[in-house]
Amino acid sequence: MKNFSERVKIIFYKGGKFLVYPGVYEPADDTFLIADNLDVKSGERVLELGTGCGLLAILAAKAGAKVVATDISQTALECARANAIENLVSDKIDFRCGDLFDPVDGELFDAIIFNPPYLPVEPEERFNEPLEMAWNGGSNGREVIDRFLNELPLRLRVRGRALFVHSSLSNPSQTVRFLETNHFKFKTVRIKMFFEELFLFQCFRC
Ligand SMILES: C[S@@+](CC[C@H](N)C(=O)[O-])C[C@H]1O[C@@H](n2cnc3c(N)ncnc32)[C@H](O)[C@@H]1O
Repeated sequence: MKNFSERVKIIFYKGGKFLVYPGVYEPADDTFLIADNLDVKSGERVLELGTGCGLLAILAAKAGAKVVATDISQTALECARANAIENLVSDKIDFRCGDLFDPVDGELFDAIIFNPPYLPVEPEERFNEPLEMAWNGGSNGREVIDRFLNELPLRLRVRGRALFVHSSLSNPSQTVRFLETNHFKFKTVRIKMFFEELFLFQCFRC
């Protein structure tokens, strides 16, 4: 049986070094799709929901943003804090634990970033292991996405923007309908994966 430090993975990305603790989502194509389109300006107030190992929050902080990074997993937050220290931005990121927008009640942001759990998983397919929270989007893949979207308009400043991703397996046309109905301007970037397409939504509150 390997000990804790032997189970920690290390990844390098855009000049940063990131530890990934056991039980924390390892940055993948969805993470990098957001990272490659992260257009954050110095001084902006940025929220990352579900920060995992903190890679996106840390990139935003390196760009000069004042960042709040949340996760429902305490292990993820411990990992993200360690990475913020390693990348010299721990004073620029406020880490908070909780479900979606609960930890930022009443606050508004210039930009909100989210790589949510989005894979459809039936109850009998569940593993009940900590990492499952990172990808399990419930039976239709949209349990977390829909709760996120419903509150998004209340959390963005006027002309604020959101950057989030999900899969072709979690009904992107429903997201499109939501954004149209709620008067967001938006564009999508699609990339083809082995068994799905990833959709990046960049949307702007008018
Ligand atoms: C797909 S991972 C993304 C991690 C990281 N942002 C990245 O892109 O590599 C989803 C993250 O969201 C967290 N999460 C899941 N449900 C959540 C919720 N309801 N509220 C806050 N965080 C949540 C998980 O613990 C996990 O760290």
